[in-house]
Amino acid sequence: MSKQTGGTPFTPHSTTSGMIGGGFYDANSAAQWKAIEAVLPLVNKAAASLPIEGTGTVGLADFGCSEGRNSIAVMQQALAILLPRTKRPVQTVHSDLPSNDFSKLFLTLGAGRQKAFDSEQVFSAAVGGSMFDQLLPDSSVHLATTFNAIGFLSRRPVDSLPGYILPNGPSTARGNGYVSEEDRNAFADQAKRDVGAFLKARSRELVPGGKLLVQVFGGNEDARTCDGIYDLLNDAVLASVGTGDIAAETYDRYYQAVYMRTLAELTAPVTKDRYGASGLFQIEDTKSYEVAVPFNERYAADGDLDRYATDYVNFFRAFTEAVLKAALPATADRDRLVDRIYDRAVELLKANPERYPFRYIAIAMLLTRTG
Ligand SMILES: C[S@@+](CC[C@H](N)C(=O)[O-])C[C@H]1O[C@@H](n2cnc3c(N)ncnc32)[C@H](O)[C@@H]1O
Repeated sequence: MSKQTGGTPFTPHSTTSGMIGGGFYDANSAAQWKAIEAVLPLVNKAAASLPIEGTGTVGLADFGCSEGRNSIAVMQQALAILLPRTKRPVQTVHSDLPSNDFSKLFLTLGAGRQKAFDSEQVFSAAVGGSMFDQLLPDSSVHLATTFNAIGFLSRRPVDSLPGYILPNGPSTARGNGYVSEEDRNAFADQAKRDVGAFLKARSRELVPGGKLLVQVFGGNEDARTCDGIYDLLNDAVLASVGTGDIAAETYDRYYQAVYMRTLAELTAPVTKDRYGASGLFQIEDTKSYEVAVPFNERYAADGDLDRYATDYVNFFRAFTEAVLKAALPATADRDRLVDRIYDRAVELLKANPERYPFRYIAIAMLLTRTG
């Protein structure tokens, strides 16, 4: 990994190579779907008001699609509203980092015949690139969306985060670490700059009057979506520092460049000048909400601790493993060490499940491209 602040071994303007592929993300993202389901009324509202008079192709694009199960389900929802409104051909685009595993997405789409959308009017494509760059032609998109993705920052704003593995710091309940105020501010600022860059890129791609729905995990005055899961990963990684498997210096430099925003932090770049995107969009709707987490509900119902611990750890392993692995020296034992860390997380959770309560807080804004 580069020693430069902001440098990562990943695609420019990204800080991860993506989720665990091979079907693992799709199989472990029921909680993310719950967070998407709660904003489907905003998808409907957007699809019902897209500016689709005229001729040519109508464009729908989802950024940060991962393996596609949730992304395709959102497109199906938007198409159910859109197709009765127009005879124009529709191009759906699923976009993620070039290093994302797109194979499951193509299989689910039903290559060639668009089985997933069951319409000869719909043509699908996948595009690799960072969502913080323009990825599609000017004025080619009518509806753009992103779900559970824009919290992954475009760059590492500090070189090391010695007291914890996430910029938001530990939960108040667990308190197993620290993040200085200065570092915290650097991440908060980066998160706003990222929204500014995202808005700028999408503003070029969207037609005037086009809609942009931005939804992501975050925090409110009560809880944050990092509480519990990152406390547990931090404890598991520290256990490997304790055994000497991970050097203290490696721990200092390792962090997940993910930031839990509040709704105010998400919307600020839409209106504030300093993020380069003010005036490009008008805010139509916002939402800050919490969803029930499927693995929590299941555990409450059946009390099966083994199953709970496996589901809980697989959930966060899907989106943290790539970054943890890249932070460790590339030794012959690295894959086994990664396995041991997540196995340790399962053990720690089973020993003290009440120590790591997890809640899913999410935020969203629906915007219209001005002009
Ligand atoms: C937690 S997954 C969300 C997947 C899907 N949208 C969902 O809600 O289930 C986050 C996705 O964002 C992608 N991602 C992270 N940084 C990105 C970037 N800079 N540009 C594009 N995609 C990015 C990751 O590769 C990953 O597939």
